[in-house]
Amino acid sequence: MDAETRLYGVIGFPVRHSLSPAMHNAAFRELGINAVYLAFEVPPERLGMAVDGVRGLGVKGLNVTMPHKTAVMEHIDGLSGDAEEIGSVNTIVNEGELLGYNTDGIGARRALEMVTRLEGKDVLVLGAGGAGRAIAYELSKTSNVVVLNRTPGKARALERFGVIGDALTADNLRRYIREADILINATSVGMNSDESPVPADLLREGLVVMDVVYKPLRTRLLREAAERGCVTVDGLWMLVHQGAESFRLWTGKKVDPELMRGAALEGLRKGW
Ligand code: ATR
Repeated sequence: MDAETRLYGVIGFPVRHSLSPAMHNAAFRELGINAVYLAFEVPPERLGMAVDGVRGLGVKGLNVTMPHKTAVMEHIDGLSGDAEEIGSVNTIVNEGELLGYNTDGIGARRALEMVTRLEGKDVLVLGAGGAGRAIAYELSKTSNVVVLNRTPGKARALERFGVIGDALTADNLRRYIREADILINATSVGMNSDESPVPADLLREGLVVMDVVYKPLRTRLLREAAERGCVTVDGLWMLVHQGAESFRLWTGKKVDPELMRGAALEGLRKGW
């Protein structure tokens, strides 16, 4: 091991329930990397100072979460093509310059690829917030994507990626789900509640259903989907795969997603 302990972290507000420290510290331990990962609670008015601190202290890398994913862009030195297109940064790599990336979309892709191929598939994404945008952009590279959102203008704005954007209405849901191979909930509906964004009778055998929500792990949508014979992928898989991709950007090393998931599950059990 090298003598200098490298520092990584996540900035968010609030951030104390983040599972990222557990996931990344488990990965550092497993791979024998002399590094620690901490959560930093940064209120919006201190974002610029926090980024200056990263430069000053030589923090090697950061994850960025709500509410800083867009605002942080103006404080760093460069953006990957993905981050620029999505308009959101969830990972910063300190290479002397601070470079912003977005690994949310690739996290969703890898989570889905555990159960299905994506090339040429019809994908229905519900939600056009940060997560929905990242997913729509990434999956539009290989698949036919429709995005439905409560605020339709935000879904239509994604048509620049070559996707179809429309309003999240009962009629549109019924219409587009019929043609979909894959359904992704990227709204916050179901987070810490027992609601589903999709009436259960629209879920049919063979459909792949992924939820971005991971608290609870078995959301109502995923439970009802499994009951109807859908293949399900929970939101923790997407979180784990985005984390593994951030880890790869920082260290150049691949980490076993199962290891990160185990650490995250332990965090969830502790109520983080
Ligand atoms: P995230 O970064 O997790 O994507 P976000 O950017 O705040 O969070 O986006 C939340 C998403 O959930 C949005 O698509 C939002 O729809 P609006 O753009 O219309 O706000 C969606 N959402 C939140 N509550 C919802 C609800 N009750 N019904 C439908 N969509 C909802």
